[in-house]
Amino acid sequence: MSRKKGRMLEVDGLSVSYGGVAALDGVSLRIPDNSITAVLGPNGAGKSTLIRAIAGLVRPRAGTVSYGRRLLTGMSPEAIVRLGISMVPEGGGIIRELTVDENLRLAHLWRRDRADLRKALDEVMALFPPLAARRHLPANSLSGGERQMLAVGRALMSRAELLLLDEPSLGLAPRIVSLIMRTIHELRGQRGLSVLLVEQNARSALAIADEALLLSSGRTVASRRAGELAHEEELWHAYLGY
Ligand SMILES: Nc1ncnc2c1ncn2[C@@H]1O[C@H](COP(=O)(O)OP(=O)(O)O)[C@@H](O)[C@H]1O
Ligand SMILES: [Mg+2]
Repeated sequence: MSRKKGRMLEVDGLSVSYGGVAALDGVSLRIPDNSITAVLGPNGAGKSTLIRAIAGLVRPRAGTVSYGRRLLTGMSPEAIVRLGISMVPEGGGIIRELTVDENLRLAHLWRRDRADLRKALDEVMALFPPLAARRHLPANSLSGGERQMLAVGRALMSRAELLLLDEPSLGLAPRIVSLIMRTIHELRGQRGLSVLLVEQNARSALAIADEALLLSSGRTVASRRAGELAHEEELWHAYLGY
């Protein structure tokens, strides 16, 4: 199942403004192949903006994003997905009126490879058994945790190598948060995926991440090994407010 490509994502001096107001100000990071990077920070820190800029949904005012030496800055969101970078927006971005199966098929549509479609569907069902049991039910009948599984499943249907996850644990019960985190960790281990994991749940994210970035007001406050930041509770408490 592993698709080793050895590509690294490099973000260099990225700045994004919305109507003249800076949301991201000179942020740099590297996500090596087969690794998890946690991006922590309070509301409004620029975490979602960072994800959107990497995915090509907002245009940076300055700085660059590259993946395996290819410059992503200026590329369309579709072209970036084709390179193997897939985003799961806050809330999952699934279509509630469609069934689980339809949501997954839609995410595979542009590949036009029916044999691969079946294989990809089988892989997602094996990874998330609760989805297999609800395959033909509308997505709005799923629990919060199942919806998040579907959102990650959709990203996998596009054959992603790098997942950009925007607060996947938001609003979920602690038991479900652990399940989601464990799955992300397994995806990295078993399938060689890389993950940019945006979270406000610092403890859960740092437990599975390799590297960590703490953002505040669009700037990098700390950038280090996740294991080190996990021991600096005063620091992340000060910024995350708990
Ligand atoms: N579409 C937008 N238009 C204007 N301002 C925005 C928009 N999206 C985000 N912002 C502002 O940019 C800053 C960073 O937002 P965001 O990236 O969503 O932060 P986070 O995800 O860390 O909560 C905030 O001050 C927010 O109000
Ligand atoms: Mg956000």
